[in-house]
Amino acid sequence: MLSGELTYNTFASVYEQYTIIVGKVAEADETAAFLERFCRGRSALELGIGNGRVAVPLTERGVTVEGIDNSDNMLKILANRTDRIKAWKGNIADFNSVQRYRLVYCVYNTFMVLVTREEQIACLRSAAEALDEEGVLVIEVRVPAFDGFVSGQKTTTMFVDHENTFVHAEIHDPTTQNLIQTFLWFSGTSVRRIPERLRYVYHQELDTMAECVGLELLERWGDWKRGAFTDSSKRHVSVYRRTRLKC
Ligand SMILES: C[S@@+](CC[C@H](N)C(=O)[O-])C[C@H]1O[C@@H](n2cnc3c(N)ncnc32)[C@H](O)[C@@H]1O
Repeated sequence: MLSGELTYNTFASVYEQYTIIVGKVAEADETAAFLERFCRGRSALELGIGNGRVAVPLTERGVTVEGIDNSDNMLKILANRTDRIKAWKGNIADFNSVQRYRLVYCVYNTFMVLVTREEQIACLRSAAEALDEEGVLVIEVRVPAFDGFVSGQKTTTMFVDHENTFVHAEIHDPTTQNLIQTFLWFSGTSVRRIPERLRYVYHQELDTMAECVGLELLERWGDWKRGAFTDSSKRHVSVYRRTRLKC
């Protein structure tokens, strides 16, 4: 079992609560509105579909959404939530799809769960092959930021209320561009420990990897409302299409 699989099998039970706390559930409809523009009347594939946070509102907008995830528990939550989305267990670093989609998307830093450069390129390659002729790949990923790191580590209190305390501990390994992190969720008398390893990428590295697999940047935004991507953006939403031959 991959370590990411273990993480999300543990995380599944609290994922919805967590994404409500950090504002990602509130944002899901905005994300769906952005994505719908690329696939009206066509189908879409989500990489790391999770509990359907984005896929469900996108389906409600009339898009046929399918998805891949490697966590049994996340897939179970999705299946209990809706029977309108076909989702299967698979690794987004290495998948084959017979069907071609107008939109393939990978949001909320899910691309970073692939912890080597090779896995990230393999994911982009599989995604490019799953696109139809006019298809686009949309990736939402955060801009690497190291403010607050001291001697390569940082601990952040993310959320505190009467019932919950959410602490996030990170260690930075610059040689692999990995962040080795653990969420500690104290609630009542219980503590849940959720480890995760991520690989960060700068937008220019992402563009270069995409170019390696025959994709080119079409648009880049700083958020789902199409705000500008600037030097103070904390994330980007990048849209790639198949490379057009230039004469
Ligand atoms: C940050 S969550 C995002 C879930 C959902 N896309 C959302 O936006 O709420 C990452 C998801 O990717 C899945 N995942 C992690 N590594 C994966 C891999 N190698 N292959 C497929 N899914 C993976 C996890 O199980 C989890 O559901």
